[in-house]
Amino acid sequence: MKERLQKFLSRAGLASRRQGEELIQAGRVTVNGRVVTTLGTRIDPEADEVRLDGERVRLPRRRLTVMLHKPEGYVTTRHDPQGRPQVTDLLGGLETSLYPIGRLDYDTSGLLLLTNDGELANRLMHPRFKVAKIYRVTVAGVIAAAAVQRLEAGVKLAGRTTAPARVRVLKVLPERTVLELTIREGRYHQVKRMCAQVGHPVLKLKRIAYGPVKLGRLPRGAYRELSAQELVQLWEVSGRPKAANPKS
Ligand code: URA
Repeated sequence: MKERLQKFLSRAGLASRRQGEELIQAGRVTVNGRVVTTLGTRIDPEADEVRLDGERVRLPRRRLTVMLHKPEGYVTTRHDPQGRPQVTDLLGGLETSLYPIGRLDYDTSGLLLLTNDGELANRLMHPRFKVAKIYRVTVAGVIAAAAVQRLEAGVKLAGRTTAPARVRVLKVLPERTVLELTIREGRYHQVKRMCAQVGHPVLKLKRIAYGPVKLGRLPRGAYRELSAQELVQLWEVSGRPKAANPKS
């Protein structure tokens, strides 16, 4: 949609409308290589190239964070040597590239956050903030209280003990146990390695919450933008309260 050049300059954060008019009248603004001095010139922000004093003027990128219900059978990485389906294949229709916040294994399903907000991603993944990740885990065998205690207290993985975790036993079946496991780290294959370490290999793994954000009833393979409230909560757990302003 076309808009007035001075409005575009002010949306780009360069000037008030009035100052924008002055910049235009002073001959400092070009559109597609031609100096424009006529106030009210309309431009197409998507297609036209606007420069101020020779510098390209761009609109601030809209910050976008979504949750995806990742199905099994997708990789989280961008470059998979085996060419398997990628989670970003499920984000058709988005106007911007999004990057996953952390990883889920190929055979893990559940809540994956993706964002173009690098600061939020870095904070959420930083070990300092200890953001809780909650998994529903089906393990082989019937788990004994002692194994639950070991998982909670911390098990040694590659010489380093895992941080305290929380375990709830949801279901005990003849040869399997369903657990809810909350961890606050994000080590490589952490849940699978922790459970294997206490003698109960993981059969099925699904992440159901990331910090305050819950997967809820989002269908498998679907995604949705986070609400303003969810974003505020995510900023809070990542150490920096921030006003909800998803459009900024
Ligand atoms: N822990 C794992 O082992 N795998 C995942 O995908 C996530 C956590």
